[in-house]
Amino acid sequence: MTNNIIAIEGLTKQYGTLTALDDLTLNVAEGAIFGFIGPNGAGKTTTMRILTTLLRPSSGQATIAGHSVQNDPAGVRRAIGYMPDFFGVYEDMKVWEYLDFFAACYDVPAKQRSGMIDDLLALVDLGHKRDVPVESLSRGMKQRLCLARTLAHDPQVLILDEPASGLDPRARIEMRELLRELQNMGKTIFFSSHILSEVADICTSIGIIEAGKLVTHGDMAMMKKQLRAHRTIQIRVLGDIAPLQEILLQHNKVSAVTTSADLEIPYDTLRIDFSGSDPDLSELLALLITNHIQVVGFNEEFGDLEDVFMHVTQGIVN
Ligand SMILES: Nc1ncnc2c1ncn2[C@@H]1O[C@H](COP(=O)(O)OP(=O)(O)OP(=O)(O)O)[C@@H](O)[C@H]1O
Ligand SMILES: [Mg+2]
Repeated sequence: MTNNIIAIEGLTKQYGTLTALDDLTLNVAEGAIFGFIGPNGAGKTTTMRILTTLLRPSSGQATIAGHSVQNDPAGVRRAIGYMPDFFGVYEDMKVWEYLDFFAACYDVPAKQRSGMIDDLLALVDLGHKRDVPVESLSRGMKQRLCLARTLAHDPQVLILDEPASGLDPRARIEMRELLRELQNMGKTIFFSSHILSEVADICTSIGIIEAGKLVTHGDMAMMKKQLRAHRTIQIRVLGDIAPLQEILLQHNKVSAVTTSADLEIPYDTLRIDFSGSDPDLSELLALLITNHIQVVGFNEEFGDLEDVFMHVTQGIVN
């Protein structure tokens, strides 16, 4: 059985009459890269602030590495590194001083700190900026520095609030690579993002939150498999569409044949839901050709991952 290094049960947070977090239950396995996905105001930061002991829940509980956020906040803080959504106000420090300061806060002995700072700077690719003031760094560099800071006491779990927000495409990719590297170092990563499609390829598991409620969560490999089970194929043919429809309707991996009338696309196009693999798909095409269907277009539609995802999870939402 996998060890759940983060366990959240029935977590609720009220701000006055507003329920920012509504009965959230969620587990994250040790070693996971967990993506916590949701729109603005969904409750991501609220959840992370509770997990990092900065905010008390109205009800429910959470433990990290076996430490309860309510009963053992000091234990939780030792186990986690937290990168908040806004960069702190330590800008009059040099880069190395900034890391030294945080390492000192975590009681890392002075003689260990200098070597450790160089290692951390190398990890986030800021070695060349060691002696410059923090304020002279670009946003992406500040974000990497902030990430280095969360590692100063070698925590097991990293809680990162939108680590890639405001970064350019290249810096986003670098941030993703960094997260993978940290996972390889044995860290468990719990991070938030607005956009599922941007993070889907690095997450091992995800949770989608909306208006304080968890819409769905689970293993990414499983979710991807679910997505693969609902492929949409567009087929365009010359001539009469009836023989094509007939073949498709009899095919055991085809469901929901949508014709042009529903599609607002040219009369010779059909769209099908296909539940087979790539070889199955190529067999279907061969079948059509064998039956003298004049296929001129046969392609898979890759909709916005989010759309597809929401479609697949609709059952769970309702
Ligand atoms: N200190 C506070 N007092 C009152 N309401 C708050 C407070 N902090 C957050 N909220 C409200 O709680 C809800 C959840 O906010 P939260 O910051 O957790 O969302 P989020 O998912 O992190 O959003 P974003 O993507 O914008 O960062 C929002 O409606 C927000 O207005
Ligand atoms: Mg937030």
